Amino acid sequence: MKISIIGSGYVGLVSGAGFAEAGHNVVCMDLNDDRIKNLRQGKSPIYEPGLDEMLADNVKRGHLAFTTSLEEAVNHAGALLIAVGTPPQEDGSADLGHVLAVATGIGKILSKPLLVIVKSTVPVGTCDRVRDAIQQELDKRDQQLSFSVASNPEFLAEGGAIKDFMQPNRIVCGVENKHSEALLREMYAPFNRNHEKILFMDVHSSELTKYSANAMLATKISLMNELANIAERVGADIEHVRQGIGSDPRIGYAFIYAGPGYGGSCFPKDVRALSHTAKEYGFEAKILNAVEHVNAHQKTHLFEMLKRGFNDEISGKCIAIWGLSFKPNTDDMREAPSRVLIDALLDAGASIRAHDPEAMDVAMQIYGDKENFSVHTDQYDAATGADALVLVTEWKLYWIPDYEKLAATMRQKVLVDGRNIWPQETALKHGFTCHAIGRPSIG
Ligand SMILES: NC(=O)c1ccc[n+]([C@@H]2O[C@H](COP(=O)([O-])OP(=O)(O)OC[C@H]3O[C@@H](n4cnc5c(N)ncnc54)[C@H](O)[C@@H]3O)[C@@H](O)[C@H]2O)c1
Repeated sequence: MKISIIGSGYVGLVSGAGFAEAGHNVVCMDLNDDRIKNLRQGKSPIYEPGLDEMLADNVKRGHLAFTTSLEEAVNHAGALLIAVGTPPQEDGSADLGHVLAVATGIGKILSKPLLVIVKSTVPVGTCDRVRDAIQQELDKRDQQLSFSVASNPEFLAEGGAIKDFMQPNRIVCGVENKHSEALLREMYAPFNRNHEKILFMDVHSSELTKYSANAMLATKISLMNELANIAERVGADIEHVRQGIGSDPRIGYAFIYAGPGYGGSCFPKDVRALSHTAKEYGFEAKILNAVEHVNAHQKTHLFEMLKRGFNDEISGKCIAIWGLSFKPNTDDMREAPSRVLIDALLDAGASIRAHDPEAMDVAMQIYGDKENFSVHTDQYDAATGADALVLVTEWKLYWIPDYEKLAATMRQKVLVDGRNIWPQETALKHGFTCHAIGRPSIG
């Protein structure tokens, strides 16, 4: 099939590479000139394991091309996916400016039947607005063309996005007619071999499914963080509690880790946007608001822990941070808990020595002008001279620290484990004080 994807970010590129890998003929379009120029030279704008190779292979095979021309993309496609950003606005609602601009652009160009598929995460009713925007432009040109709009939200998670896309556990499609259903079936056939994974439903339900999935996952995280806060106060260990409740199959082990709060480009904005939609319909989403509130508070937790550990004397302290991206295997720092920690530490007069395997360039774009912020290509260099080392993101290379090396280079032996992965007894044996989330501090 000839497929075009508008928006070449995390979702657009992974989908583009995935569809091309499966044998479709794909054009990825983006407004950003530099992004497309770099992609044409084989440079991906994002870090996602396996993506660079897959992009390069498919460009070489002639299955994948990049363009800045919407016209080229529209003319190429039998099915066109919109995968542009839907960032949050001040009031929490999703900014649909990019999505609707693409729709208007399509309406201005369209000259043959097309299935327009909205892959961006959008509030209920957006596909209707996309249809109206295209139709308005066709009417202006007095064109009578048949086109359909479908909803096909994306569930990939950064860091494991290729696997999520190539082996999805479900493919949600909201359609308004049988023709769209047939095209989506053909498009996803290579991903639907093992058993039926495509769930067809009405467009509004499909739009709401995406928000509901993220709301459910964010709720699990915030509830677990709330339980960790209770555990800290009553002298219990949330790690024992986690295993105790995860063993119940009705609860399960997934997504019940206490930590420094969720970040990234999806959970925070999607929880807020769904709450905003509910409000527009006259309903107060109390649980969603609490999930957001608990998370915002949790992001201050690591700083509060350091403050307590240093008796409120943070000014002049040197703090090492391991892990800057909002989760491992991505360079994405959007709404990352590390940013709340860094901002609070800089405000309080501390200096920061940071390390991350992939996000240091991104970090320098954000904090490069701050005198007291530095990044280090070696994780132990980052810890040199530090009064405390804070683990914020659990990249694999941080799981088994060389405690002797740390003990020799750090100024004070204080560890803050924001992901509860370091065995506290081992740290204690090497003379460290160890704070963790929802666990008694030791040392
Ligand atoms: N990142 C994820 O993990 C993820 C997962 C599932 C769903 N989503 C959703 O998918 C959508 C895209 O997310 P993303 O993370 O890929 O965003 P992104 O910011 O990485 O990429 C968006 C791209 O769209 C381009 N763009 C903006 N306006 C354009 C226009 N008019 N024409 C062409 N290109 C345009 C931007 O230049 C950018 O390259 C969002 O709605 C997001 O909520 C994201």
